[in-house]
Amino acid sequence: MSSLHVTVIGATGFTGRHIVIELLKRGHVVSGVCRNPEKIGRHERYHPIALNVLCTSVTELATIFARADVIINAYGVPLTETSTYKLGVESSYQVISAFKYAASLSTTHKPYLIALGNSGSLVVPGTDGIHAVDYEPFWVEFVRSAAQSRALIAFCKEKYPAMANMLDSYRKAVLAWKGPGANIEQLETMKSYEDKMTDLNYDFIRACTVCHLFYDGNESFDWTFISPPAMYGPGKRTGEYDVHLEHYLPLPEEEGDILPGISAPDLAIALADEAERKGMKWTHWTVTGSQSDDSVVSMYPKI
Ligand SMILES: NC(=O)c1ccc[n+]([C@@H]2O[C@H](COP(=O)([O-])OP(=O)(O)OC[C@H]3O[C@@H](n4cnc5c(N)ncnc54)[C@H](OP(=O)(O)O)[C@@H]3O)[C@@H](O)[C@H]2O)c1
Repeated sequence: MSSLHVTVIGATGFTGRHIVIELLKRGHVVSGVCRNPEKIGRHERYHPIALNVLCTSVTELATIFARADVIINAYGVPLTETSTYKLGVESSYQVISAFKYAASLSTTHKPYLIALGNSGSLVVPGTDGIHAVDYEPFWVEFVRSAAQSRALIAFCKEKYPAMANMLDSYRKAVLAWKGPGANIEQLETMKSYEDKMTDLNYDFIRACTVCHLFYDGNESFDWTFISPPAMYGPGKRTGEYDVHLEHYLPLPEEEGDILPGISAPDLAIALADEAERKGMKWTHWTVTGSQSDDSVVSMYPKI
């Protein structure tokens, strides 16, 4: 296929980097939009565009978007900020407004918007439409699954230290409970961490879920919305993934298994495939991949 021009918002983030690397590997031209786009390194087909998506005018953003065939929004709310909910919603407002304006500038060139959500935006099967973010048993299941994965704990240490500390302590309590000399105190410790995890502030996850409603049923512009599964984190590039076209949270096949997930390089493959095919227009979907590799690998590769 001929090469595409793809604009990646949040190009230097955990998700954005893997997308940029995958797109460059396929011969596409990539514009990286964020405040410090050079952080990812240099490449002849990578064009850094330094801007703050929250304070740039919609018309200026639209001019940048209008040059691209595909825009991938991998913006991530800085979790050090206090108003993560506001920033999450505001960034989506900016991107969608600019995208719609960009699409209106030409009758022949129709850009395509790939938006990223998170597992909180997926609907829990069998619940009549409850999103995972609002479903306490999901968080308990997430704690149990994440505590079994060294890669996921390493990922959380980097991004959500409060959560990582709890996962670490939870993991130790589980191991002690399974070992010789198990006692009721360890069970109580496990339960208390499950409760604490469900009490953490998930405003940024809720913001993503709310932003999905800007898309849901809206056919006034060309978008697709992908929510990664719960166990999304660092891992190997296997090149294989399964697409789930419904907006449901993927659940384990066997009771007691960990929640499904995917590695960042495999998610990037799914996103690059979608950038090339544009086959999921107006769809909220997710992807799962292999979880056989649990090694702790670099989260922030360079180009
Ligand atoms: N399991 C899951 O469902 C899951 C897990 C993780 C992520 N995700 C989703 O993946 C997406 C990306 O998250 P991530 O964790 O990969 O991101 P991240 O690592 O936090 O990276 C954030 C990116 O956004 C950029 N950015 C932040 N503020 C900006 C601003 N004001 N203007 C322009 N750029 C800005 C950052 O670059 P600068 O700082 O240089 O601006 C960086 O490139 C999100 O939608 C998130 O919900 C889902």
